[in-house]
Amino acid sequence: MKRRQLLKSGILAGAGWTILRSGMLRGADAPSNKLNIAMFGTWGRADAHFGVMGRENIVALCDINEEHLAPAAKRYPNAKTYADWRKCLEQKDINAVVICTTDHTHAFIANWALNRGMHVYCEKPLGNSVEEARVVRANYLKRKDKLATQLGTQRHEIENFARVKELVRDGAIGELKAAYAWGDRQIRRAGYLPAEGEPPKHINYDLWIGPSPMHPYNSKYFSGGPGMNCLSWNMFWDFGSGQVGDMGSHTMDLAWNALDAELPTSAEAEGEKFNPEVSPVELHTSWDIPANDWRPAIRLHWYQGGMMPEPPPGGIDLRRIDHGAMFKGSLGYIVAGFDSRVIIPYGRGANMTYYQPRAKEKLIPPMGGFQNEWLNACKGSLKTTCNFDYGGKMTEVMLLGLVAYRVFPEFLPNEVQEATPAKDAKQKKQQGTPIYRANKKLEYDPAAGKVTNCDQANPLLKRKYREGWTLDG
Ligand SMILES: NC(=O)c1ccc[n+]([C@@H]2O[C@H](COP(=O)([O-])OP(=O)(O)OC[C@H]3O[C@@H](n4cnc5c(N)ncnc54)[C@H](O)[C@@H]3O)[C@@H](O)[C@H]2O)c1
Repeated sequence: MKRRQLLKSGILAGAGWTILRSGMLRGADAPSNKLNIAMFGTWGRADAHFGVMGRENIVALCDINEEHLAPAAKRYPNAKTYADWRKCLEQKDINAVVICTTDHTHAFIANWALNRGMHVYCEKPLGNSVEEARVVRANYLKRKDKLATQLGTQRHEIENFARVKELVRDGAIGELKAAYAWGDRQIRRAGYLPAEGEPPKHINYDLWIGPSPMHPYNSKYFSGGPGMNCLSWNMFWDFGSGQVGDMGSHTMDLAWNALDAELPTSAEAEGEKFNPEVSPVELHTSWDIPANDWRPAIRLHWYQGGMMPEPPPGGIDLRRIDHGAMFKGSLGYIVAGFDSRVIIPYGRGANMTYYQPRAKEKLIPPMGGFQNEWLNACKGSLKTTCNFDYGGKMTEVMLLGLVAYRVFPEFLPNEVQEATPAKDAKQKKQQGTPIYRANKKLEYDPAAGKVTNCDQANPLLKRKYREGWTLDG
């Protein structure tokens, strides 16, 4: 077997072989035991990866913006450069890819890379539709004994994630009843940006639009700082899923991690008035999550843009936590931010005698670095915490919530009503943005990936692509 095949198969590092000839291996850091990585997106979020991924061989760099590609090419002079990710994936020596492009290209690049036998690290969210999340997950599951994947929810390495999971799992709040996650960011846009003439020469705008329907060029899609430019485009339906796919991926992860959950059997939503061009600021989505072997069926909720869950009794102000999660149990609540947590015993019998903290040696071990975990997995262990099974299901749940939000106003307006109609102008001002709620919840068949009680919802599980672009190529 050639070195590339060995790396791909995981045999090399897993078996700890030493190959004593030119191109030989001598331990994990030997030059010949390095992965050959292609970076998709070479600026912005990619900067957060060059440090760790750059210890491997960066053999290919792909960016639609020449001004972003050039500095990376200078840093890695041996890497080949590309504008079109499809061309880049033809390069034969690549065995792992890191995807830091726009959300509407994630599932495409991930599928194509998995189909070509490459390990994949993909920035969140995993896709921009339920179908995209499902196809990437399926492609990973077919190859999980050969390929390593990691969804870029790197906050997962914060030990608080593990401590929250242990508290829930070990019964610190009794039997789990419900879980909530929220994020308070508010970026309002009216619609796609107006045409602003020809794109500059250094931006390949056609490739930036990629599989999405064409929208005219506007420099404001490219006006954000490094690592923040996603906030210039991710609220537009054809480019992203707004707040829920963005910070929601991190915050839902705090809740999802503790649930050992499978896909939901329903989805429901309420939020601001539907805009066919822009995803909502105010949104509350919720799902029925089936029971598993340690807890009953529960309800999972996501809130954003100022909508918030009911706080636990006792005056805790959840609004002080900009991105957080809460777990409601039969004997209390856990409230958590990314870095900290608090237990609130509540009700008769909530005396904590039922809860035994874990012995130190039984604690969930630290990840040892989020990107490192993936690199080690590519080299043999194949074990990643946020692989595309875990992250794919979480992404599917979040995006199914958006389908529940948009289907009724878009196709069945009679099913929608204002949640709290104001009596007069004064009350309207006090209430802020009006919230609309559907009378119906979507019933979901998680095995088939289909809505079973509303035909109009099924087309919204997918996106329409421009001619010439194939999701699963
Ligand atoms: N995990 C995190 O904490 C975190 C933080 C920020 C952003 N992100 C994610 O990273 C991704 C990129 O975000 P960003 O703010 O860096 O965005 P960005 O708009 O700055 O894009 C990053 C780079 O990708 C390039 N690019 C865009 N589309 C491309 C394509 N089709 N092919 C090749 N290159 C392309 C851009 O030119 C740019 O250089 C997003 O999906 C975002 O959700 C994650």
